Amino acid sequence: MILVTGGAGFIGSNFVLEWLAAEREPLLNVDKLTYAGNRENLASVDDDARHVFVRGDIADRALIGALLREHRPRAIVHFAAESHVDRSIHGPADFIETNIVGTFALLEEVRAHWTSLPNTERETFRFVHVSTDEVYGSLGPSDPAFTENTPYAPNSPYAASKAGSDHLVRAYHHTYGLPSITTNCSNNYGPFQFPEKLIPLMVVNALAGKPLPVYGDGRNVRDWLYVRDHCDALRIVLAKGRAGETYNIGGGAERNNLEVVNALCSAMDELRPMSAPHARLVTFVKDRPGHDRRYAVDASKIRGELGWTPRHRFESSLRATIEWYLGNMQWVERVMSGAYLQWVERNYGQREAKAGAAP
Ligand code: NAD
Ligand code: TYD
Repeated sequence: MILVTGGAGFIGSNFVLEWLAAEREPLLNVDKLTYAGNRENLASVDDDARHVFVRGDIADRALIGALLREHRPRAIVHFAAESHVDRSIHGPADFIETNIVGTFALLEEVRAHWTSLPNTERETFRFVHVSTDEVYGSLGPSDPAFTENTPYAPNSPYAASKAGSDHLVRAYHHTYGLPSITTNCSNNYGPFQFPEKLIPLMVVNALAGKPLPVYGDGRNVRDWLYVRDHCDALRIVLAKGRAGETYNIGGGAERNNLEVVNALCSAMDELRPMSAPHARLVTFVKDRPGHDRRYAVDASKIRGELGWTPRHRFESSLRATIEWYLGNMQWVERVMSGAYLQWVERNYGQREAKAGAAP
């Protein structure tokens, strides 16, 4: 089996659902269920015996060590992280704890597990570390896109904490020989993204007739990738990627934020004509401090070496994504109201209280 961390978050839950649909192999999913983790994302595989879900922290070495000894996974796909730049500006501590200290704890336990494997299994073992293009910093308008050789220059506490985790993963390969691979991906969009990120936030606000807050002048550029293309890339990296390598993953779909919001408004005009034009809701607000101007990813290495290519075009997949949110407003409402967290408390709070109760 494989072990996935953070498989109840946005990209992780898409990965888990796709894995179970496409592969026969079981999957152990360890997620702390922070505000960003939502067990409801995985409701459709609740009855699938190949999906084993454990609520737990990657920094809990006793738990991770015990799970590795019990399940003996052949690979790890490490998604678990604090992931929202704006939250990292308001409170960086959790980012250091999970992204750096948590990844260190996970690496230590995985190293012990990997060392205990027979030689043949040690060679084929993989630790895939899912990271971001934000570690490379910000590009000027005509700079070439980030390659795997672009020097690290993280600008936000989020990016710095991911850079720290990337360096640890690199060092565990270089020093101990752990067969790790790091992927650095551009901005994802698609189903199950937490509605504080640009695209789902804009859909929810547009639907409610609320302002669409665009930071600064709206000319910051991101390279957008549909989440399923990212998940496909990770499956290919796991199957064919070379240990010790890094692979950039990007959509080749650079758009500035105003272009994204305008495309979203046009799609909303067609899907919800009664409240058109939605572009009237666009509101420029104070910029994010240290806001990176442009990200762009050169994905030629993964294309050439592993044969991956994004299959989804931005405009049509953006529309499909909007339709997904409109068709899953109950999911959105339960996230916005915090009802999904109450479920976590009811379900796991009772179990933890029972586990801790005197015999
Ligand atoms: P997310 O915030 O939606 O999900 C993160 C998940 O990790 C949640 O389920 C959360 O409960 C879990 N988690 C957090 N701390 C944990 C801990 N200490 N132990 C166990 N689980 C914990 O994030 P996402 O957007 O799905 O991103 C997943 C990964 O992909 C992250 O590592 C992120 O840096 C990377 N990434 C994201 C994007 C993007 O556009 N979203 C792009 C490139 C890379
Ligand atoms: P975000 O989804 O937070 O991803 P990241 O910061 O990791 O790229 O933001 C994407 C872009 O959208 C980024 O340039 C910030 C901008 N943005 C807004 O203009 N308004 C918003 O309300 C949000 C959440 C983001």
